[in-house]
Amino acid sequence: MEIETERIYQPPLPDLGSALSMVGDLPGFLHRSIDEKVGLAERACYDRYLRILNALELRSAFGSSLLDLGCANGFFAYLLTIHLCSRATAVEDTRGSTAGYGKSAFLEPLREAQRQYGLEQLEIVEQPIETFLASQPERRWDVVLCLSVLHHLYTGYGDRPEVGRMEAGERRRLFEAIGRATSSVLYLEFDHGRVPDDFLDDFASAGAFAHCQTLGSSSSAVGDLRNIYELTK
Ligand SMILES: C[S@@+](CC[C@H](N)C(=O)[O-])C[C@H]1O[C@@H](n2cnc3c(N)ncnc32)[C@H](O)[C@@H]1O
Repeated sequence: MEIETERIYQPPLPDLGSALSMVGDLPGFLHRSIDEKVGLAERACYDRYLRILNALELRSAFGSSLLDLGCANGFFAYLLTIHLCSRATAVEDTRGSTAGYGKSAFLEPLREAQRQYGLEQLEIVEQPIETFLASQPERRWDVVLCLSVLHHLYTGYGDRPEVGRMEAGERRRLFEAIGRATSSVLYLEFDHGRVPDDFLDDFASAGAFAHCQTLGSSSSAVGDLRNIYELTK
């Protein structure tokens, strides 16, 4: 009998002590086995996280508010809540489950961490990004993460291309809403092979971002290299 295993996208959330030791003793943290921390996850995530944390520190963004769109298990929102942000909103609607990811790939671990450590500054929203942003059109966040999410609006999920795919007009309205929600800086990552060539320009112009720079790149779950872009107003 073949046993199907659930896919895991991000590493498990480290406990509070380990999360704190990341910034208190970065060389020591890196010295301890990264394999152990990443476990069976398809993406190491710590590489992307440390790049973004470094970029935010260079911007003196301590105490910022954060919006993490398509947060999965909340890896980025959780760590940034502990390390840098005064409050964070993590949005996820579990549509990725259609590609074989299990419960631990979505909001359950983040809810458990919130219960365990009393992270009241963390708001966990189980809704489609587009519904959430449409319901709060006036709300702004200093820092927005949009990591490996938007290409799904073009191609859907796994063998279900219809899941989450949007028409051009609907996509443009979502990009505008993401831009309006960002008051300072947005970090964007996407699968270059699954969006049109002019995607980055379209996203930046719809969201009224004036500047864009590349922070570096990271290897995806399927082996392609994805840039991390920093977009500012
Ligand atoms: C490939 S994962 C990326 C997770 C995380 N941002 C990262 O880079 O590690 C994409 C996640 O976004 C979620 N997602 C995609 N489109 C969404 C939408 N429109 N609303 C809410 N969640 C969405 C999926 O369920 C999935 O968990």
